[in-house]
Amino acid sequence: MSEKKFNVAVAGATGAVGNQMITCLEERKFPVKSIRFLASSRSFGQKLDYMGDSVAVEELTESSFKGVDIALFSAGGGTSERFAPFAAKDGCVVIDNSSAWRMDPEVPLVVPEVNPHAVAQYTGKGIIANPNCSTIQMVVPLYPLHKKCGIKRIVVSTYQAVSGTGKKAIDELNYQTRAILNFKDCENKVYPHTIAFNCLPHIDVFLENGYTKEEMKMVFETRKILEDDTIGVTATTVRVPVFLGHSESINIETIEHISADQVRSLLEKAPGVKVVDDPENNIYPLAIDAAGQDLTLVGRIREDESIANGINMWVAADNIRKGAATNAVQIAEILAKEYL
Ligand code: A2P
Repeated sequence: MSEKKFNVAVAGATGAVGNQMITCLEERKFPVKSIRFLASSRSFGQKLDYMGDSVAVEELTESSFKGVDIALFSAGGGTSERFAPFAAKDGCVVIDNSSAWRMDPEVPLVVPEVNPHAVAQYTGKGIIANPNCSTIQMVVPLYPLHKKCGIKRIVVSTYQAVSGTGKKAIDELNYQTRAILNFKDCENKVYPHTIAFNCLPHIDVFLENGYTKEEMKMVFETRKILEDDTIGVTATTVRVPVFLGHSESINIETIEHISADQVRSLLEKAPGVKVVDDPENNIYPLAIDAAGQDLTLVGRIREDESIANGINMWVAADNIRKGAATNAVQIAEILAKEYL
C-alpha cells in the first residue's frame, strides 16, 4: 500500500525557523504531496528550494490554506493569532511555533518525547502549539526523572542564542562583533543593549511580577507539558552572544532520592537525550556541539549537596532545530501517522 501524502504549507518560510522547518521536512522525508511557502508581501516572488525544486514564496492571506492539510507556522505571534483560525476553518491543522496559542486550554502543547498523546486534542481548535525553545530542551531530560522520582521544584537559568530572536538578531550580533573588533561604534536595533561581548538578563517583555514573559513561559508551559500543576518552576532567562544553541543550568528538587549515577543511566536510555558527561576529559554539553543536530545534550550531572534530594545538570540543544523546527515536524509526523 502506498504511503498517504499531505498538502503542506510553511508560514514564515523565509525566516530562521521557517527555513529550518523546510530542511527538516526534507531530511525526515515527510510524506509531502504538495508544498506552499508563505511569508509577508515583502518576500513575494522570492524562490526557495524544496527537494531540488524552486518554489515561489506566496503572500500569506486568509485564503492561503484551501486544500492544505498541515500548516507549520513560524511567522510571529500576531500572524499566528490572525491567520491560524482561517487555516483551521479550511480544515487545515496548524502546528504553531509562536506563543499565541500555547496556553489555550483547547490547544495541545506537545513535545513528542513527553506527551505525544496530547496531539489527539488538535480537534479542539485545529491548532497544536509548539512549546518555547527553552522549555522543550528542559522537559526532554526532566520527563524521565519526573516519572521516576517526582520533581517538586525546578530552578533554571538559560543562556540563549540570538537565533531565537530571528534573522535580524543573527545579523545584529554579526555586525556588532565586527564593529567592536574594528573599534567602531555600533547601534542596537534588535535588543535594548549591545549583545556582542555581553549578556542580557532580559528576553521578551517584563511583566508586573518582575519576571520576563520568557521566564513565565517556562513556568506555565512546563506544567502543561508535564501535566502537573504542582511543580514549582522559577527561571532566569539570559540572552548571550552565541549564534546557535541554547544552554541551561537546571537544578531540580525531587520527591524521592535519586543519585547522580542513577540520573545518568536513566538519561542514557531517554528518547531524544544524549548524555555528554565526562568532565575529567573536559567533555560536557556545548552549544557549538548541540548546533546542527537534534538531540538534547545533558552533562555536568551532580548531586546538589545543599539539599536532601537535589540534582544539578547542564543542558544544551539546537534552539532552531529541537527547540522549534524539528519538534514541529515531529508533531506533524504523529499527526500524519496516527490522526489524519
Ligand atoms: P518576511 O521574510 O516576508 O518578513 P524571523 O523570525 O527569522 O525574523 O522570520 C519571521 C518570518 O515570519 C519571516 O518568514 C517573515 O516573512 C514572516 N512574517 C513576519 N510578519 C509576517 C506577516 N505579517 N505575514 C506573513 N509573514 C510574516
